[in-house]
Amino acid sequence: MSKATLTLGNQTLEMPVVVGTENEVGISIGVLRGSSGAITLDPGYGNTGSCTSAITFIDGERGVLRYRGYAIEDLAAHASFVEVMHLLVYGALPTAAQLERFQHSLAHHTLLHEDMKKFYEGFPPKAQPMSVLSAMVASLSTYYETDDDLNIIRLLAKLKTIAALSYKKSIGQPFVYPRNDLDFVADFLHMMFAVPTEVYHVNEVVRKALDMLLILHADHEQNCSTSTVRMVGSSGADLFSTISTGISALSGPLHGGANTAVIKMLELIRADGSDYAKYIAKAKDRNDPFRLMGFGHRVYKQFDPRARLIKKAADQVLDQLGITDPLLAIAKNLERVALEDEYFVKRKLYPNLDFYSGIVYRAMGLPTSMFTVLFALGRLPGWIAHFKEMRDNRDRLHRPRQIYTGPMLRPIPPIEYR
Ligand code: CMC
Repeated sequence: MSKATLTLGNQTLEMPVVVGTENEVGISIGVLRGSSGAITLDPGYGNTGSCTSAITFIDGERGVLRYRGYAIEDLAAHASFVEVMHLLVYGALPTAAQLERFQHSLAHHTLLHEDMKKFYEGFPPKAQPMSVLSAMVASLSTYYETDDDLNIIRLLAKLKTIAALSYKKSIGQPFVYPRNDLDFVADFLHMMFAVPTEVYHVNEVVRKALDMLLILHADHEQNCSTSTVRMVGSSGADLFSTISTGISALSGPLHGGANTAVIKMLELIRADGSDYAKYIAKAKDRNDPFRLMGFGHRVYKQFDPRARLIKKAADQVLDQLGITDPLLAIAKNLERVALEDEYFVKRKLYPNLDFYSGIVYRAMGLPTSMFTVLFALGRLPGWIAHFKEMRDNRDRLHRPRQIYTGPMLRPIPPIEYR
C-alpha cells in the first residue's frame, strides 16, 4: 500500500501513503489543495496526523504506550524519572557516566535568579498555581535570552523550584532553596515540605511513588498541550515562551486539570451520601453538563495502561503509609458501576490516568491545588522532546486551514443603520 486514491467530482487524485515503524498508516494529503482547491476538515483533529515523530508510540486499541520503544510498564518498574527525561529528550537511556553528568547538570541549575522571587510577591495569595507556573516559565525567557541547548537543562532543573515556590507562596511559608545532594524527586519534596524550624526527612515510599507517577506522565505523543507546544514552537518562539503555552493548555479540566476535577467530584459524591447511581445517571444525561471526570480518552479504547499502574500504586502507597482514604473506595465503586453500564461500555469509556492519580497524591500529603502542577512537572521532558524534534526536523510553520461559514461580501451600511 503506497498510494491512496481520492475521487472529488470528476477529479481523481493519487496521494502517497506514509507507514510508520509500527505499521501506522497516514495518507499524505499535501497535493489536495494544490490540485483541487479542497482541504480536509477534521474538527478536534481526531484523524489528523500533524507530524511524524520518533518519541512515543500509542496503540489505543490494545492499551499500549511506549517511550522510544520501551514499554511504559518496564520503564515504571525499572527506570527513574531522571533516566526517562534523558530518554525522551536525548533519545536514549543514559549510560552510568551520562546519568552522572546529567544529574550533576540538573542539580546545578535549580536556582532561580533572586529577582524572580519578587514576581511571586505580585501574585495574589490564591493565584492558580498553573497560571503562576506558566507565567514564571515564560519569564525565564527574559533572563536567558540566547537560544542554546543549556536552556533545556535550565528548564528541566528549574521547573520544580518554580512549582515548589508557588506552593510555599500559596500557604504563606518561607521559600526553601534546592539542595544539590538530593535526587530530583527528593529535592522537590524537600522544597515543598521543609520548614526552617524542623529537619525534614524525605519519605522513601513517597519519593518512589512520585518518581513513578512522573514517569507515567512524561509523554503522550500529540495530546492537546504537546500539540500546542509544537504549534507555538513552529513559529520559532523560544523554548521558555513555548513551554509556558503547553502549561496553559494542560491546565484545562478536559486535559491535565482532570486530576483535580476527579477529587472534587469524588468529594461531591461523598458529601452526597456516596450515591454512585445518581452521578452515573447525571454523566449519561445529555442535558446535564456533568461528566465522569477521569473517564474516557480520545485514543485509548480498551484501557489506559497508565491508569492500571496508578490504581496498583494507589493501593500500595495507601497500604505502605497506613492511610485509609474513603475517596479510594468511592472511586473503585464508581469504576465498577460504570464499567458494567451499557452507556460507558458502548462508548468505550474507561478510567484514564487522572482517575486514581489524585488519590495517590493525597496520600503523599500533596495538596489538591498542586495536582495539575505535578502533571506539568512530569510532562515537561515530553514537551521538550517534541520541541527539540520539531526544531531538529525543521518542521514547517503550523498553520491549519478552515472552512469559512460567515457572511459573504457585503457593503458597510450607513452609520444610522448599524
Ligand atoms: N463522562 C460521560 N460521558 C462521556 C465522558 C465522560 N467522562 N467522556 C466521553 N463521554 C461521552 C460523550 O458524551 C460522547 O457521547 P455521545 O457519543 O453520546 O455524544 C462520547 O462519550 C464520546 O465523547 P467525546 O467527548 O466525543 O470524546 P473525546 O475524544 O472528544 O473526549 C475526553 C475525550 C477525555 C475529553 C472525554 O472523555 C472527557 O471529557 N473526559 C473527562 C475529562 C478527563 O478525564 N480528561 C482527562 C483525559 S486523560 C489525561 C489527559 O490527556 O490530559
